[in-house]
Amino acid sequence: MEHYLLPKLPYPENAFEPRISAETFEYHHGKHHQAYVKKLNKLIEGSAFEALSLEEIIMRSHAESQTAIFNNAAQNWNHTFFWNCLSPETDQPTGELLNAINRDFGSLNDFKQQFHKKAVALFGSGWVWLVKSPVKGGRLTIESTSNADNPLILRTARTPILTCDVWEHAYYIDYRNERPKFVEMVVDIFNWRFASQNYESTSAAPGMLSGEGKDRERRIKPQPKPRAAA
Ligand SMILES: [Fe+2]
Repeated sequence: MEHYLLPKLPYPENAFEPRISAETFEYHHGKHHQAYVKKLNKLIEGSAFEALSLEEIIMRSHAESQTAIFNNAAQNWNHTFFWNCLSPETDQPTGELLNAINRDFGSLNDFKQQFHKKAVALFGSGWVWLVKSPVKGGRLTIESTSNADNPLILRTARTPILTCDVWEHAYYIDYRNERPKFVEMVVDIFNWRFASQNYESTSAAPGMLSGEGKDRERRIKPQPKPRAAA
């Protein structure tokens, strides 16, 4: 039985033409994301991981160095989050989130420039995140993570607000090797309503299908070791 299904995109594949082609979504969502879903289902089949939420699988597989499960679970989470971070409707941050951006980066434009710089500087494959950091009094910071890593596993809890996928598969069809151009485009199509919802959330894994309503304490509580796969 398939434990996880590929979530539908929150917009049609051609919603961002010509900035992101339907072909990119066909491959990025329909092939790459789909492959992570299939591999995760296969890896957790018959194990105790099947009883856990996606966020719990990420935290536990990371804590237990179960790398293959972690990579596929985190890539599932990261991609679903990323699809929600994009909006075909031109949007601008408002209210509390805009105040926090102005406070912590100077202006929206300064935030976009700093996010772009971090994304371009990340060596190899990974993700760049706007996060809310409780240890810094709720301040916003920009963090990059390599490969499948995400803010859920950072030593200090940080709530993800927005992300950009900077794996080459995210931009190669439309932008070839030009990551700077791709990121410049992404920061202009961020879904600021989704970002505000995440900023106002008290959950460390907001806005996600399986994470909604779950408290972080429960998710980071040490779990018993999973049974061996059947
Ligand atoms: Fe990706």
